[in-house]
Amino acid sequence: MYRAGIIGCGKIAQLRHIPEYAVRTDVQLAGFYDKNTVRAKELAERYGAQNYSSYEEMLNDPEIDVVSVCTANHSHAEIAIAALHAGKHVLCEKPMAVTLKECERMEEEAQKSGKYLMIGHNQRLLRTHQEAKRLLASGEIGKLIFFQTNFTHAGPETWSIDAGKNVWFFDKSKAAFGAMADLGIHKTDLIRYLTGDEIVSAHAVLATLDKKDSEGMKIPVDDYAACIYRLKNGAAGTMTVGWSNYGQEDNSTILYGEKGVMKIYCDRKYSLLIEKRDGSSVRYELDQIQTNDGQSKSGVIDEFIDCIREKRESVIGSKEALKSMRAVFSGIEGTYAGN
Ligand SMILES: NC(=O)c1ccc[n+]([C@@H]2O[C@H](COP(=O)([O-])OP(=O)(O)OC[C@H]3O[C@@H](n4cnc5c(N)ncnc54)[C@H](O)[C@@H]3O)[C@@H](O)[C@H]2O)c1
Repeated sequence: MYRAGIIGCGKIAQLRHIPEYAVRTDVQLAGFYDKNTVRAKELAERYGAQNYSSYEEMLNDPEIDVVSVCTANHSHAEIAIAALHAGKHVLCEKPMAVTLKECERMEEEAQKSGKYLMIGHNQRLLRTHQEAKRLLASGEIGKLIFFQTNFTHAGPETWSIDAGKNVWFFDKSKAAFGAMADLGIHKTDLIRYLTGDEIVSAHAVLATLDKKDSEGMKIPVDDYAACIYRLKNGAAGTMTVGWSNYGQEDNSTILYGEKGVMKIYCDRKYSLLIEKRDGSSVRYELDQIQTNDGQSKSGVIDEFIDCIREKRESVIGSKEALKSMRAVFSGIEGTYAGN
């Protein structure tokens, strides 16, 4: 039996981590901590678990084996490193951390501790993305020429458990970046996952175009980011992420190959469409992507616990996440040495 501790008891913890631990027969939800003490106390009561007064107290408890770090971005590195140091396996939400140095320190600590460190890159676990990766590798659309990947929605101010225009996602000291940290990380990582290729150059433009805080001022983090990536095998592509899409959420990716085009999450019914150069097409009805309003099982917790149990490498392991973060930071800084 694995005894799980939840650090940060907000929306992602309540909609994904906690329910996905709760349905497992080999996991006991054993402890909760949140700087909002009422929130953690309520959950601890609901699950008959311990309510801790600090994350250090939880990490000092030998009863806890695995932890989920679901706090605001700026605290990921500090808590994850402390948890690994304390001998816990760690599932940390994305973005891995807010600076490249922090990400590298997390990876170092994971190596030193011999414990698992995984990052909540749930896009890798979606059936449609897994099938797209398989079809791409099998040559279904031939050699990749270029791609475009998008993740845009109306922003996190209605999503967060502390919803409103003063949400922490808009606070640079807590979030570091806006849409780029929130959404760009997912799609950068997804492109590396789908193609199995490495990003060798990155140029990003971040801007605040529309989103305003409670005083009507533009938020201090980006609500829009566009990035151009080059891959080692020569393909190029764009990533657009944003918090000022007031229509339907867009979480689509299109891969353009020599033999055809693969469209992922472009159609509500058919999550994967292949249009061949010879005019034929194939449609796959595989799954629906998780949206802010439409949540389904992410599979992240199963991957976390199953990997620990089976002692196998994870598809959402920190080593992969670090490479994706390196591309993101370098794109922002405009200098990139490549993975
Ligand atoms: N994988 C995904 O698709 C996905 C989706 C949403 C959020 N996230 C990530 O999950 C993390 C949490 O986001 P959320 O949407 O749940 O936010 P949220 O605002 O709903 O909840 C955050 C919670 O963490 C608590 N908290 C913040 N800093 C803390 C600290 N230092 N110590 C203890 N508690 C702290 C807050 O009190 C709050 O209860 C963020 O890093 C976010 O980027 C990932």
